[in-house]
Amino acid sequence: MLSSTLLTASRSPRMRRLVTNAPWSRRVVERFVVGESSGDAVDAARTLIGSGLAVTLDHLGEDTLDLSQAGATRETYATLLRLLADLDLAAQAEVSLKLSAVGQALPRGGHDIALENARTICAAAQQAGTTVTLDMEQHTTVDSTLAILHELRVDFPGTGAVLQSCLYRTEADCRDLASAGSRVRLVKGAYLEPASVAHPAKADVDLAYARCLEILMAGDGYPMVASHDPRMIELAGVLAARHGRAPGSYEYQMLHGIRAGEQRRLASAGERVRVYVPYGADWYGYFMRRLAERPANVGFFFRSLLTR
Ligand code: FDA
Repeated sequence: MLSSTLLTASRSPRMRRLVTNAPWSRRVVERFVVGESSGDAVDAARTLIGSGLAVTLDHLGEDTLDLSQAGATRETYATLLRLLADLDLAAQAEVSLKLSAVGQALPRGGHDIALENARTICAAAQQAGTTVTLDMEQHTTVDSTLAILHELRVDFPGTGAVLQSCLYRTEADCRDLASAGSRVRLVKGAYLEPASVAHPAKADVDLAYARCLEILMAGDGYPMVASHDPRMIELAGVLAARHGRAPGSYEYQMLHGIRAGEQRRLASAGERVRVYVPYGADWYGYFMRRLAERPANVGFFFRSLLTR
């Protein structure tokens, strides 16, 4: 109930103005978001990489209805990727991209505009020596995102995608994408979805995650186990052993600011662990989804207000 209220608020322009203009916001948000500039992102990446973790950098922003904004986001990614290459970080740092930040939501030609912008970003990533993973947004975008993935993989086969276990369709999508060279980041799903397309009960989302993980681990692709859930992390280890996968033939992923101790524990046990590092000024939607995922975060949020 609280979770769906927060997810509804995450799409409200009025709440966005209220929360982003509040003077205390920055201090609360910095648990999840590393800063506003590419320099902040690169500094955070350098520190994490120095401690034995890999990273994926996300320039925050989504649902743009402005063509020039979509172009500006493309250029921001290209600059970031050049910076990662210049600083010799690209082997351990890839980027995550929301297609709605590069034009997918534009009413005229959004799909094609997002494809072309993503193609430019993939070329910049290739030149830097790294890869791009396409984030997954609301269920209405899944067909377009997977079609763009398919196009991009013709020239950039290392391009990855996110699949959300909350959606009924995802087991079939996992089967389609469990092939050699295919990088799939499996998540539970962070958006408010109708029961016509997604499991309404969290327990069913968790069970679906386990089934999807089995499909990906049994397949020939590269599974990216993106979850903080101790049960899923344990299951991934069991399935990797059952399917003869060595560490490095799959990886664990977690969000910056969540279960940092567990990230380090897995890395010291010899596992590959990647931290999702968001940065940028447009943090509202991302931040609200993190609150919605865990009611305790709302307590943390209000305590920060009281002690400001
Ligand atoms: P679950 O929600 O069951 O949480 C398990 C435990 O993890 C909790 O008990 C708590 O300890 C901890 N935890 C989880 N969320 C927390 C939070 N916000 N704050 C503090 N502790 C928390 N979603 C999406 O729809 N599209 C996408 O592209 C992505 N991309 C993505 C990348 C990566 C690397 C990750 C890790 C996650 C995403 N997500 C996402 C988000 C994902 O869908 C999901 O909402 C969160 O990961 C929370 O689900 P868990 O699997 O962690 O389990």
